Amino acid sequence: MAQARSRLLLLCLAVAATTGVLRARAQPDSIGFISIDCGLPGTASYVDDTTKLAYVPDAAFIDDAGSNHNISTEYITPTLSRRYRNVRSFPDGARHCYTLRSIVPGLKYLLRATFKYGNYDGLGQPPIFDLYIGVNFWSMANITDANSVLLLEAIVLVPDDFVQVCLVNTGSGTPFISGLDLRPLKSTLYPQANATQGLVLLGRMNFGPTNTTAIIRYPDDPHDRVWIPWVDTATWNSVSTTLRVEDTSNDDIFEVPTKVMQTAITPRNASQNIEFFWDPEPQPKDPTPGYIANMHFSELQLLPGNALRQFYINLNGKPWYPEAFTPTYLVSDSTYNSNPSRGFPHYNISINATANSTLPPMINAVEIFSVISTTNVGTDSQDGPASNSVKPQNETPMSHAAAAGGGSYPQSSLQLENRRFTYKELEMITNNFQRELGRGGFGKVYDGFLEDGTQVAVKLRSDSSNQGVKEFLAEAQTLTRIHHKNLVSMIGYCKDGEYMALVYEYMSEGALQEHISGNGSNEGFLNWKQRLRIALESAEGLEYLHKGCNPPLIHRDVKATNILLNAKLEAKIADFGLTKAYRETDTHISTSTLVGTPGYVDPECHAMLQPTTKSDVYSFGVVLLELVTGRPAILRDPEPTSLIQWARQRLARGNIEGVADPRMRGDHDVNSVWKAADIALKCTEQASAQRPTMTDVVAQLQECLELEEARAPGGGDANGGYYTGGSSSDPYSGYNAYGDGQYTDVSQISTGFEVEHNFGRVPTMPTGPAAR
Ligand SMILES: *[C@@H]1O[C@H](CO)[C@@H](O)[C@H](O)[C@H]1NC(C)=O
Ligand SMILES: *[C@@H]1O[C@H](CO)[C@@H](O)[C@H](O)[C@H]1NC(C)=O
Ligand SMILES: *[C@@H]1O[C@H](CO)[C@@H](O)[C@H](O)[C@H]1NC(C)=O
Ligand SMILES: *[C@@H]1O[C@H](CO)[C@@H](O)[C@H](O)[C@H]1NC(C)=O
Ligand SMILES: *[C@@H]1O[C@H](CO)[C@@H](O)[C@H](O)[C@H]1NC(C)=O
Ligand SMILES: *[C@@H]1O[C@H](CO)[C@@H](O)[C@H](O)[C@H]1NC(C)=O
Ligand SMILES: *[C@@H]1O[C@H](CO)[C@@H](O)[C@H](O)[C@H]1NC(C)=O
Ligand SMILES: *[C@@H]1O[C@H](CO)[C@@H](O)[C@H](O)[C@H]1NC(C)=O
Ligand SMILES: *[C@@H]1O[C@H](CO)[C@@H](O)[C@H](O)[C@H]1NC(C)=O
Repeated sequence: MAQARSRLLLLCLAVAATTGVLRARAQPDSIGFISIDCGLPGTASYVDDTTKLAYVPDAAFIDDAGSNHNISTEYITPTLSRRYRNVRSFPDGARHCYTLRSIVPGLKYLLRATFKYGNYDGLGQPPIFDLYIGVNFWSMANITDANSVLLLEAIVLVPDDFVQVCLVNTGSGTPFISGLDLRPLKSTLYPQANATQGLVLLGRMNFGPTNTTAIIRYPDDPHDRVWIPWVDTATWNSVSTTLRVEDTSNDDIFEVPTKVMQTAITPRNASQNIEFFWDPEPQPKDPTPGYIANMHFSELQLLPGNALRQFYINLNGKPWYPEAFTPTYLVSDSTYNSNPSRGFPHYNISINATANSTLPPMINAVEIFSVISTTNVGTDSQDGPASNSVKPQNETPMSHAAAAGGGSYPQSSLQLENRRFTYKELEMITNNFQRELGRGGFGKVYDGFLEDGTQVAVKLRSDSSNQGVKEFLAEAQTLTRIHHKNLVSMIGYCKDGEYMALVYEYMSEGALQEHISGNGSNEGFLNWKQRLRIALESAEGLEYLHKGCNPPLIHRDVKATNILLNAKLEAKIADFGLTKAYRETDTHISTSTLVGTPGYVDPECHAMLQPTTKSDVYSFGVVLLELVTGRPAILRDPEPTSLIQWARQRLARGNIEGVADPRMRGDHDVNSVWKAADIALKCTEQASAQRPTMTDVVAQLQECLELEEARAPGGGDANGGYYTGGSSSDPYSGYNAYGDGQYTDVSQISTGFEVEHNFGRVPTMPTGPAAR
């Protein structure tokens, strides 16, 4: 059967011209980037026009070795980026190393070395040499022609406070280098890069971009990865959206930029598969290289109810990702393998529609890496690198990076290991438990900062805690298993002697309760649209627990203090200490004690001592009423009354204005508020059978939000105040990152630039995107 097939390539790049001069700096800039123009004389740095990144000369990083050269004028074009106009070469000595300092030990870094020969030495003979990261072999630099630019990239975890990049003469010409970049990465990114394994980029491709010649990098990608357009109009159709694609930020594994995810491809002939392939390049130091593939998916079309896009991902004709996959609408989702795949003579990736699928397969982006072993990354010892021992390993199932509300619910088989902290580390992170963020049944929660500056919340179990070891372990286990953008994620845990703690992502805006009560530090108040978003996001988190987990999980303590908000006011459900798995077939859950918080407890569950997912629906209904009314779950004045009862009476009289929070000053769509109040009343029906499911609630709240958003401008915040997430307008309209027309122009490749592979060379000249 004919297939829509393409070869994976990393393209040579020609980058833009630059202007501007700054003073010299050998320090990372404010975002921690180090960008070095190798062979740039003097001490002055300059700002690259397109990326606005400052490039510094390399003298401070290399001890007076090598010499500076300009490339030959015939290779200089007006759009050629400044750092490719000069090189540093090392005619004497076998090995020369750049030393990059200001490294945070234990953190992950992206290293990128760039090379443009440009006949700088007048010999007309491009060299071949080796590149090392410390003592670890990184890659061979096979410079095949004078004009192309070779990019080599590695992602490694650096154990020391410095890292060295070394050029080694292998007897095939004088090593040289044009540029060297260092980009810090959050430690959660690229879980496959760890203390013993580094990733060497083979290709990072953005499928189906509308502008087929524009690469995407900083600032669209805050990590300054280079995403190469891959369009093949003979075999693939492009699909795109201007709507924002949500990152499943709870995972922070790949953080593919929205701009990359906004485009995708499907096969031109809908009955064919999407296929691409690469051939391994055995190296003397690694005869059977292992490969990692991270594939990124998001549905970009709003599908009618009877339509289904579902596919398998295969490697060499065998399922690679074990389950049928359905991308989620406007949510970024990834599959990846944790253990490198080795030993194949050829790597065919094929994505085929399942028999049930009514739509062809689709993919938005892919990253392919080979792995290198990394021991003692920073150290430069003169010993040769240890040779890799390689075990053939053919069956390496892929994992799924994230599952989000709606669409499919792949069983989460996340391979991410949560970090284990010692008590001593917690002391450092929290500066001796200095700042208390809050306290609960479990103990106190403290503010902390990881080594890389990431702010975290540390929940330390206290001896007097009424939440026992069992609940602590239950929560840790639950959180390792579940991942959703609307559930607070766990970064790590500590079980060190008697000390137990959980380390969570930091939620800077605190609990929803503080925003509703409007007291404390969060004085402002939330407008209706913000409230609806918070309600919707919380509902999505609960829906995931009920529907996305197998068996379903019941939170059992849904309340406004357990819904936390981050800086973007995104809501996440917290506190899984009471969460229980629930099987429909279970006749009862052994609940020795009744749990929950007064005002939120399901009366039916109270009577039957048997929580169900509908008990969470009930509690959520109370939270929703709090959002509508701005009042607490139990009103104290004049006498204790449940908020439900209070609201039910007023709503029965048609008095919506008497129920809506007066602090919103009527600035909301009345129908939207009515509808939300109605959902809340349905959720809090006495009989659980009459309550909706969280899936229904999510759909209904979405309609509420649409009503509010459709409201004529004039009142309210058309742009959502300081809350900007999920805006339905195109976040990039009017923002032309490449407006100066000088950015990398892939179309140049067809007029002379070669296309190449950065892990050795492809055997034949490909007909990749450049040819079109
Ligand atoms: C390299 O080029 C720059 C700018 O074009 C020029 O100022 C400099 O003198 C040249 N250096 C050498 C060694 O030719
Ligand atoms: C596509 O990108 C290139 C390179 O950035 C730019 O020069 C060109 O104007 C863009 N084309 C369109 C149609 O936006
Ligand atoms: C589409 O692919 C199918 C299966 O390979 C083939 O039978 C059919 O002829 C193709 N259609 C077109 C229009 O090329
Ligand atoms: C992969 O596809 C190529 C054709 O592109 C084919 O020659 C080869 O046999 C396939 N390899 C495997 C292992 O399926
Ligand atoms: C898709 O590929 C898998 C694995 O190669 C195969 O088992 C399956 O039959 C294919 N599905 C369809 C509908 O062709
Ligand atoms: C790094 O990852 C590889 C592949 O998953 C694994 O075999 C190895 O044990 C890991 N090393 C560490 C230190 O975690
Ligand atoms: C395809 O649909 C059938 C019938 O609804 C269902 O039993 C089967 O599990 C579906 N297959 C997949 C892969 O979802
Ligand atoms: C303010 O909120 C806290 C909880 O965050 C609550 O305990 C306290 O009673 C509230 N104070 C007032 C005056 O409402
Ligand atoms: C370097 O690349 C060229 C062109 O692809 C190839 O012929 C040659 O074998 C490569 N050299 C090495 C040492 O791999």
